[in-house]
Amino acid sequence: MKDRIINPFITGGYLSPRYFCNRAEETKRVMDAISSRRNITLISLRRMGKTGLLKHVKYQLEHSKRPHAVIYADLLPTMNGNEMLNSISSALYRLRKSEKNFLEKMLGFMSSLRPRLTMDPLTGEPSIELKVESSAGIQSGLEQVLKLISEIKQDIVFMFDEFQQISNYPEKNMEPMIRSVIQTYPVVPFIFSGSSKHMLENMFMSPGRPFYQSSELMYLDRLREDDYSFFIKENFDHGNREIKDISVSKVFDWTRLHTYYVQYVCNHLFEKGGGTIGEGEVKSIFHQIITDFEPQFVNYRNLLPAHQFRLLKAIAAEDGVTQPTSGEFIMKNHLTSPSSVSTSLKALVEKEMIVHDLNKWIVYDVFFSRWLEYHYKE
Ligand SMILES: Nc1ncnc2c1ncn2[C@@H]1O[C@H](COP(=O)(O)OP(=O)(O)OP(=O)(O)O)[C@@H](O)[C@H]1O
Ligand SMILES: [Mg+2]
Repeated sequence: MKDRIINPFITGGYLSPRYFCNRAEETKRVMDAISSRRNITLISLRRMGKTGLLKHVKYQLEHSKRPHAVIYADLLPTMNGNEMLNSISSALYRLRKSEKNFLEKMLGFMSSLRPRLTMDPLTGEPSIELKVESSAGIQSGLEQVLKLISEIKQDIVFMFDEFQQISNYPEKNMEPMIRSVIQTYPVVPFIFSGSSKHMLENMFMSPGRPFYQSSELMYLDRLREDDYSFFIKENFDHGNREIKDISVSKVFDWTRLHTYYVQYVCNHLFEKGGGTIGEGEVKSIFHQIITDFEPQFVNYRNLLPAHQFRLLKAIAAEDGVTQPTSGEFIMKNHLTSPSSVSTSLKALVEKEMIVHDLNKWIVYDVFFSRWLEYHYKE
């Protein structure tokens, strides 16, 4: 009979606390900030679990004894102020759409921005699209949306995911403008989140910048090994499967305990069906994964200049390097000179191909790192 158990290892989005591993302390810290009406900014590597944590907090807030209204706006796909407004307006609309006549009210109130209701062709989710022609239009649009949000007769929390994106907008005055508009709502806690540590730290910690000291920074680290191990074993157990301790620890090593990659591997191991997951099964999944992603990795290789690729390979082969400009590392890997390594290093950081973490330079995408290591380790 076909296995009907749903795979508990989610690799995209958030379902419910049942599929979310721990993060109890982090959740508490964010909830405490919210109840004291402090702003907080979540920073971590990509795919470590920021969005998951935001959604988990959102879930708790919406299901608490005193349910909060949570506006969650994802700025990742937005390229300018107009798109930011679309994202916030859509989040607001989704929250209040069940109220009688809310759509008419919203369309009327924002009529100067020519709002339109659209449907996402893939998800079927409703969205609001506006037409804003100037920076002044963005400011008044933001004021209007926040006004409609503030009318909600519940405690309100505002979440801005991938907030550093506003620094990439072509409009130059976004930071002071957003800051001054949201400052008029001191009772609403704002949660910002993003993976660009450098951009967010500059934004919130440089004197002279509009958001200076307006939010507490919180660095989201890896999940604790014992918590994650418990979560994995319990989920295998519920699915009538078994995974050995040694297998779990191999998965943690291979994925550097990086959440998305752990989830991805466990999802595939779970998929294998009943029986015990030993070292052999784990090895074969590792191999399958890097083979599945191979076309994408070959593409990266074709797109990168030769020197940058050589450096990337060398970093992956050593599973991270503390001093890439050292003479020994340069000689061993034929990297020419410290200055050419510095230049390539900088270019690879900008492309988010490598990152400084765990006190060394590592290849950012764990599977890519393992593929490089597998093919190029001498
Ligand atoms: N505590 C958790 N337990 C189980 N799965 C989790 C947990 N946190 C995150 N995940 C899963 O890990 C993956 C990556 O998490 P998420 O998308 O939250 O990371 P992120 O830091 O927002 O990444 P990005 O920078 O790419 O936006 C997702 O598939 C998510 O479902
Ligand atoms: Mg995210």
